[in-house]
Amino acid sequence: MNESMAATARIIDGRAVAAALRAETAARVAALPFTPGLAVVLVGDDAASQVYVRSKDRAATTMGIAARTIRLPATTSQAELLTVVRGLNDDACVDGILVQLPLPGHIATAAVLDAIDPAKDVDGLTPTNAGLLAAGRRGLVPCTPLGVMKLLAAAGVALAGARALVLGRSVLVGRPLAALLTAADATVTLAHSRTRDLAGECRRAEVLVAAVGRAEMVRGDWVARDAVVIDVGINRTASGTLVGDVAHGEVAGHAGAITPVPGGVGPMTIACLLENTLTAALTRRG
Ligand code: GUN
Repeated sequence: MNESMAATARIIDGRAVAAALRAETAARVAALPFTPGLAVVLVGDDAASQVYVRSKDRAATTMGIAARTIRLPATTSQAELLTVVRGLNDDACVDGILVQLPLPGHIATAAVLDAIDPAKDVDGLTPTNAGLLAAGRRGLVPCTPLGVMKLLAAAGVALAGARALVLGRSVLVGRPLAALLTAADATVTLAHSRTRDLAGECRRAEVLVAAVGRAEMVRGDWVARDAVVIDVGINRTASGTLVGDVAHGEVAGHAGAITPVPGGVGPMTIACLLENTLTAALTRRG
């Protein structure tokens, strides 16, 4: 091809990869002699959380998982929430517990996560599961980073020895993803808001994952030719459209492959939650 001719990035279709994973998980659930249970706890009425929780409940139900959503008012005390979590820990029908974040400001998130039985922690956020991952051992792995790894695998991206950059050091995505990429033998940079020459760091990456929650922060000239770009961001603009953390239009002309928003990482998160629920059920019930 002519050097000056811009190749168009391959689009990594998260909906298709997620549909395949869900079908596989549904088949495995159908073959079980019991029904796995998932409990989702939502405190307060954060609009985005309402949407996410409804999607999780619906997706679980359609694949034969007994899902229930426990909705608590924003005024719920930390002690009351801890009582609910401990009740779910003790409930033999519940294999997976997910406490939707963010929690209202008067509740200490760490105290709540600490209370979840690690064997039922389908979000992979308890210190036990986070610690296992950091130590290069596998417990239950957070759903979004797990989904990113499955997308990279489905796209045939060779990670061993590759320069991978994760933009964003959140507990939910950036930190666990850096650990997973390290376990896959990538050379990992974990960049964040205090990183010097962020654009230059990004340009060196062969695999770039953006998970900062800032609309179109990653510009076209931050991305190397032929880089693989995974966009975890879901940001609503003033005009109401959804955009990622990557300026898709500026990047798609020269990246090697890129995920769309929506339809990239988003569907993978829920598919991985369902798989984690099955994994927890199989582990707990022998
Ligand atoms: N809020 C946004 N994403 C997530 C997630 O993956 N898990 C939980 N618990 N809360 C979230």
